[in-house]
Amino acid sequence: MVQLRLDVLRKPLGLSFIPDELKEEKNDILLGAFEDEQMLACCLLTAINSSTIQLRQMAVEKKLQGKGVGASLLRFAENVASDRGYTYMVMHARETAIGFYEQNGYKTDGERFTEVTIPHYKMIKKIK
Ligand SMILES: CC(C)(COP(=O)(O)OP(=O)(O)OC[C@H]1O[C@@H](n2cnc3c(N)ncnc32)[C@H](O)[C@@H]1OP(=O)(O)O)[C@@H](O)C(=O)NCCC(=O)NCCS
Repeated sequence: MVQLRLDVLRKPLGLSFIPDELKEEKNDILLGAFEDEQMLACCLLTAINSSTIQLRQMAVEKKLQGKGVGASLLRFAENVASDRGYTYMVMHARETAIGFYEQNGYKTDGERFTEVTIPHYKMIKKIK
């Protein structure tokens, strides 16, 4: 999963992961979409409070992007979050991915900000 995230999310920005960043994920929910043993897409969910959970690190293998894998994984993540009692899903969406989340029912919330050197918006959806 870290390799997929590196290839899709960090290397194109000239960045990598610092070990502490990964250690903080030990209480998160890590989700993957697989074909046989190979992970094709992934994301993780970090609880913010008892009603809100944050989707992070959403990545689909480059050659499979645009084929519906991301939308399927997002729906699955929403079901997992809803089953665990969360009402809202939020994320810090890259500006380039806003359209993807909008198509899946998310709305921007607040001003544009910079994260990992590129523009982002907070987005939110009521999932329950
Ligand atoms: C963004 C990402 C997760 C979307 O997953 P995907 O599997 O490529 O998307 P899907 O094929 O499920 O697309 C679902 C719909 O969203 C649209 N869509 C996908 N990516 C989009 C984008 N970047 N901007 C606008 N619309 C997009 C698709 O056209 C599709 O619409 P349709 O159903 O009308 O055809 C994936 O492309 C990816 O990993 N991108 C690089 C990393 C990234 O930006 N991650 C998100 C960080 S916030």
